[in-house]
Amino acid sequence: MPMKVLFVSSEVFPLIKTGGLADVSGSLPTALQGLGVDIRILMPGYTAVINQLKDLQLIATVHQLPHIGTAELLLGTIEHTQVKVMVIKAKSLYEREGGPYADTNGQEWQDNPIRFGVLSKVAAILASDHSPISDWQPGIVHCNDWQTGLAPAYMKLVDQSKAKSIISLHNMAFQGSYPPHWVTTLGLPSAGFSIEGYEYHGQLSFLKAGIFYADAISTVSPRYAKEIQTAAFGFGLEGLLTKRGDEIKGILNGIETEEWNPETDQHLIKNYSSTKLAGKKQVKKALQEKLGLNIDANAPLLGVVSRLTYQKGLDMLLPHLQKLIDSGCQFALLGGGESALETAFQSLAAANPGRISVTIGYNEPLSHQIMAGCDMFIMPSRFEPCGLNQLYGLAYGTPPIVNATGGLADSVVDSNIAHIENKTANGFVMVEASAEGLMACIMRALDMFHHAKKTWRQIQKNGMSQNLSWDNSAKEYLALYQKLVS
Ligand code: ADP
Ligand code: GLC
Repeated sequence: MPMKVLFVSSEVFPLIKTGGLADVSGSLPTALQGLGVDIRILMPGYTAVINQLKDLQLIATVHQLPHIGTAELLLGTIEHTQVKVMVIKAKSLYEREGGPYADTNGQEWQDNPIRFGVLSKVAAILASDHSPISDWQPGIVHCNDWQTGLAPAYMKLVDQSKAKSIISLHNMAFQGSYPPHWVTTLGLPSAGFSIEGYEYHGQLSFLKAGIFYADAISTVSPRYAKEIQTAAFGFGLEGLLTKRGDEIKGILNGIETEEWNPETDQHLIKNYSSTKLAGKKQVKKALQEKLGLNIDANAPLLGVVSRLTYQKGLDMLLPHLQKLIDSGCQFALLGGGESALETAFQSLAAANPGRISVTIGYNEPLSHQIMAGCDMFIMPSRFEPCGLNQLYGLAYGTPPIVNATGGLADSVVDSNIAHIENKTANGFVMVEASAEGLMACIMRALDMFHHAKKTWRQIQKNGMSQNLSWDNSAKEYLALYQKLVS
């Protein structure tokens, strides 16, 4: 009998996406299904999700949910991967204009504790012997981030589920902490509201609940598994994480190679590969044209696709960007987030027509075109649990320039002499996490780009020929599941 896994997530590509969690939740279940796992995704029925899944069918009504009482459970299939999705239909919670976590003005939804409490509770019920579904009982509940953190707590303390739980930590910066009255509203036992439970500085912490009660913990890169056990990266939970340190497994994310592949990418005017790099030049030209940049094959084009937040460290680029432009570089940014950062980049763009392009907003096709059309990808994150963009940069022959943290450190091999010689060099790693450190690293890359073209091509090829797919990492998750149920 194949192992049954319930994969619980608050965002899943291509149904709804704000960042890398969606990419992982769209692609990891596909890879696991390929390994013979009987996997189903469980997610909220946002309007966008209900509209896209064409074959949705009502399979059950779930009772005893906090605040709303009941919700319908629909079953559908993601067309291009054939992965099954169970969607929680609760109109009052999920069907509204705006994003999965915030309204159109970026204000967090006030009822997020209920919205994601219900998601967690449904997972726990489906894994219990009072599940309304009789023909599909998961042996594993795979939770992701704080939005699903209460599931292991419900499973252990309330629903007495026999299934094992695992929580994957994609980002410790988001913890879902709410005032204590939510404990009762969400039907959680007050006994669990303690240091040995889900209490954190007087608040109910969804993420702490997950870390405390899950049977296993994973992080999205091996380096991040170690980092979060320190005060600098644990966001206050390093103590608990250190206690469970031996049980934390770091597994590097893979990429969806159907979606992110320069040889087949539908968003590019020309496809290319590591042996036929000429197409990349045409993509660069088309990108320059599209963004109103001067058409110039020789100008190094630096790219960014990112949330504009403290995590991503792009403020470190601001002090030196003008110097880079004056030295002949071009710069293309796609992103959105903190308004001070948006404005700072927009002002630089206004001052440098034809040289800097800044697009604020979310744009899937443009993210592919920047990844492919640029010569280098800049990602100086202060912390990065895994990071997918640097992996896309590697796949697209766009060497990433990164800070030495988390998944960036685990995936980017600096182009120093030793690594160039043994053909492992695939990007550039900052020595120091500062504006100066970033500038020094970019200068090193530019020097090689201009003066060592053959080496540059080798660096591109080293990245492009790596196996960045889920092949290996999905097997590691499967091994983790098998260990849990054995
Ligand atoms: P994080 O999840 O922390 O934002 P990742 O590197 O793991 O960082 O994943 C980010 C994902 O979101 C990538 O798929 C990236 O292409 C995408 N992305 C980020 N910002 C935008 C944007 N403005 N438009 C389109 N895609 C974006
Ligand atoms: C989070 C992290 C990012 C990671 C992604 C998917 O959004 O910030 O580093 O790649 O989750 O795991």
